[in-house]
Amino acid sequence: MFKVEKLDRSFGAKVFDIALTDIQEDEMQELYQLWLEHALLIFPGQNLNNEEQVKFAKRFGNLEFDLSPISNVRTDGTVRDPYDDDIVKSLRGNMEWHHDSTYMPIQAKGAVFTAHIVPKKGGETGWADCRASYEALDQEMKDKIDELSAFHSYEFSQKDRFGHKSKEESEFNSYGFDVDPKPLRPLVKTHPETGVKCLTIGRHVHRIPGMSDMEAQKLAKDLEEFTTGNKFWTYHHSWESGDAVIWDNRCLMHQACPWDLTEPRTMYHARLEGNAITEAASNYL
Ligand SMILES: [Fe+2]
Repeated sequence: MFKVEKLDRSFGAKVFDIALTDIQEDEMQELYQLWLEHALLIFPGQNLNNEEQVKFAKRFGNLEFDLSPISNVRTDGTVRDPYDDDIVKSLRGNMEWHHDSTYMPIQAKGAVFTAHIVPKKGGETGWADCRASYEALDQEMKDKIDELSAFHSYEFSQKDRFGHKSKEESEFNSYGFDVDPKPLRPLVKTHPETGVKCLTIGRHVHRIPGMSDMEAQKLAKDLEEFTTGNKFWTYHHSWESGDAVIWDNRCLMHQACPWDLTEPRTMYHARLEGNAITEAASNYL
């Protein structure tokens, strides 16, 4: 049986003595429960190829999309312009804390992420525990936010802020830019599988009905800083090529850390589809 080493944090564990290409059904059930409990599982040295990654991800449920390279390297091996390239702009956007696909009608359930080419320094991925931070809020704040919902917009958090080119001129696929209406989601989510309450916040929060945009974004930022400012609730992973992770996007936020963008970094991301009811925005139900 595999070996589990809990991180010295409120979440996360490293898993050893396991081959992700060869997991038996009974082990899979145990692994799934482990994932729900720790929200982030790290598997060092797996060296999954693209096909193996998709196959492993599918054991956790349907995929929102199979595989996307998260990379500043073109298919011909050259490194993209660090400043004037829409793909690199999307990488810069990923450096802000977020949950994946909260700007889509259905929020993602999670993701399997693998490291292929890693820079000498930087380029870590960080996660933050939005269960622990919600739990620790004072009652006054809980009362204030428990019934609030926010519109999430990738047009606001990425397209407008980073100045993307038009769809026709851009190499970035514009996934999520045109979603209309913008999805409305409760600030406090009850996790559909564990029943634990957690915050749904991050960079895509644009508007909160009943507040000015400035007030709404300040509230989201305050909650984000409360969450990410506590070392026990965050973990940043320094990648080695060959590492694989799976995280629960319903209760964790994540971010990429900066690196020298003239250096190549290539990761692959398989996105798990959220449940059509429990991860749906309230205006899409
Ligand atoms: Fe992301």
